[in-house]
Amino acid sequence: MELNSKLTFRLDGMVAFVSGGGNGPKGGMGAAICRCLGRAGASVAVNDLTEEAALATVRQLEEMGVKALAVPGDVGDSARVNAMIEQVVDHFGRIDILVNNAFNPGPRKYLVDLTDEDWEASMATNLNGPFFLSRAVIPHMRQQGYGRIINISSLAAIRVSMNGAAQYTAMKEALLGLTRHLTVEAARYGITSNAILPAFVLNPRVVERLDEEGIRRMGASAPTKRGADPEEVGMLAVFLASPAAGQITGTAIPIDGGLHCLAGGPERRNAMWAAYKK
Ligand SMILES: NC(=O)c1ccc[n+]([C@@H]2O[C@H](COP(=O)([O-])OP(=O)(O)OC[C@H]3O[C@@H](n4cnc5c(N)ncnc54)[C@H](O)[C@@H]3O)[C@@H](O)[C@H]2O)c1
Repeated sequence: MELNSKLTFRLDGMVAFVSGGGNGPKGGMGAAICRCLGRAGASVAVNDLTEEAALATVRQLEEMGVKALAVPGDVGDSARVNAMIEQVVDHFGRIDILVNNAFNPGPRKYLVDLTDEDWEASMATNLNGPFFLSRAVIPHMRQQGYGRIINISSLAAIRVSMNGAAQYTAMKEALLGLTRHLTVEAARYGITSNAILPAFVLNPRVVERLDEEGIRRMGASAPTKRGADPEEVGMLAVFLASPAAGQITGTAIPIDGGLHCLAGGPERRNAMWAAYKK
């Protein structure tokens, strides 16, 4: 069999948009995904709620020699989403990769205590955002005959949330539905749509809120006995974004040290809530 020279993990010449990718060195998975995509050769449009947050990652990327653009705005606002994607295409000339990473963790409450506003705020960022962004990028990707949509869901989508509450679990599972449906609609245009399901990720914000024992205890529940490095999630995003992953679409890939193989439930969730410093 002849080697297919187009199969590569490199993203040279491609343009990525990462929602919630802000805060640079202090950021979590979004910023780590920006760095990994940039290292693989992509130019990166960094979105976050504020310009300051987006610029922190842009500066970090530019120091690495990566072309970057700050596109601040609320992903739950469809007019702003359309304007952001237009700005990216005007600036870079194309858009190849969309990573839906921005999220609203919402309050940790029992379902009976959730307000209409809690539910709607969760839906706006966690579900409407990925829908608005996917709708805005697909026409460009279709024209190019290449597109990669990567939805950062959560292990909560196929279990229950250990960190958040019912609204978060519901939105993260709904995101899998969007991922699957897009797969069958967009595959013919060279567009893939996949979800990543992280569990316990040691991003700076999580680490700040736990002591060493909390980190050890929470990591210990996974068969690998540790949490994930945010850049491990970034490297999975690079693979899914690359030409090498063209036959992988409609999937939901856990990156959880094997946690999804174990039973889980409210007891584990309560232990996790208790591990957080107040
Ligand atoms: N941290 C974990 O352990 C964990 C576990 C499972 C899943 N996840 C998922 O991984 C993703 C990244 O989580 P993270 O904790 O690394 O966070 P992160 O550091 O990537 O931060 C997310 C960013 O989204 C931004 N944001 C919030 N609402 C927004 C909006 N409406 N528009 C634009 N930006 C907005 C925030 O300002 C924040 O900077 C999320 O989708 C989350 O649900 C995280």
